[in-house]
Amino acid sequence: MSTAPVSGEPLIRVVDLRKSYVLGDVTVHALRGVDMEIGAGSFVAIVGASGSGKSTFMNILGLLDRPSGGRYFLEGQDVSGFDRDRRAILRNRKIGFVFQNFNLLPRTSALENVELPLLYDGHARSGEDRHRKALGLLQAVGLGERAHHTPNQLSGGQQQRVAIARALVNDPEILLADEPTGNLDSRTSVEIMEILQRLNREKRITIILITHEHDIAEYGQRVVAFRDGRVVSDRAVESRRDAAAELAALPALQEEAAV
Ligand SMILES: Nc1ncnc2c1ncn2[C@@H]1O[C@H](COP(=O)(O)OP(=O)(O)O)[C@@H](O)[C@H]1O
Ligand SMILES: [Mg+2]
Repeated sequence: MSTAPVSGEPLIRVVDLRKSYVLGDVTVHALRGVDMEIGAGSFVAIVGASGSGKSTFMNILGLLDRPSGGRYFLEGQDVSGFDRDRRAILRNRKIGFVFQNFNLLPRTSALENVELPLLYDGHARSGEDRHRKALGLLQAVGLGERAHHTPNQLSGGQQQRVAIARALVNDPEILLADEPTGNLDSRTSVEIMEILQRLNREKRITIILITHEHDIAEYGQRVVAFRDGRVVSDRAVESRRDAAAELAALPALQEEAAV
């Protein structure tokens, strides 16, 4: 299977993307024809009310699901018809996910949670190699000291940082985050956004952030609004928020002591 980028093509391009769910006699039209391009290295926020199709869109972009109609080109390759196995291979190679509820395994250390995707990536890595990689990522999100804690020994913000480290373990080009700050207080949300902005800026990871909070969307470069399965606006953010600068301006907090 060739995954070489097609020159001149954006990282992501969807054309008239549609998704319907059939529930007995009822068909729910979750996506009703979405057209969008997302360039490599960009940071896009997707906003919209509950039920507007944001998660459905993300699940298709993330190759977790496939569209009922339309086309999805990833690096120029039409992946809309890929079966489950081909989607899984491509997904493991290119895409990381972060969810509102962290989705960490309980009773499993932060380190093991981060290592887990490496067991499925098809590359035989030694246990030591996996440890080193996972620990490096935990350190990068400020959790090197907590590697052996289980999720219930970590705050919500710390659990989300573990989830981000896990999402990065296969060196994805794209990070999809579905309401990553939905369960976090406002300061902790800024801390998570600082990490996402840093990954985007320093590692050139393309970030697609779903949020229903407009102030969180302003950390992106671009805000796309969904309503009833359609894009109703798509604009560049004029004065983008800078999470690192905001954190620097906040009084220090004894967050570590609070856990
Ligand atoms: N697996 C599913 N089966 C049936 N209907 C679904 C499913 N997933 C989402 N929907 C419906 O599709 C619409 C869009 O949902 P979703 O993409 O989750 O919106 P959002 O993330 O913006 O809240 C909603 O009406 C929702 O009820
Ligand atoms: Mg959703």
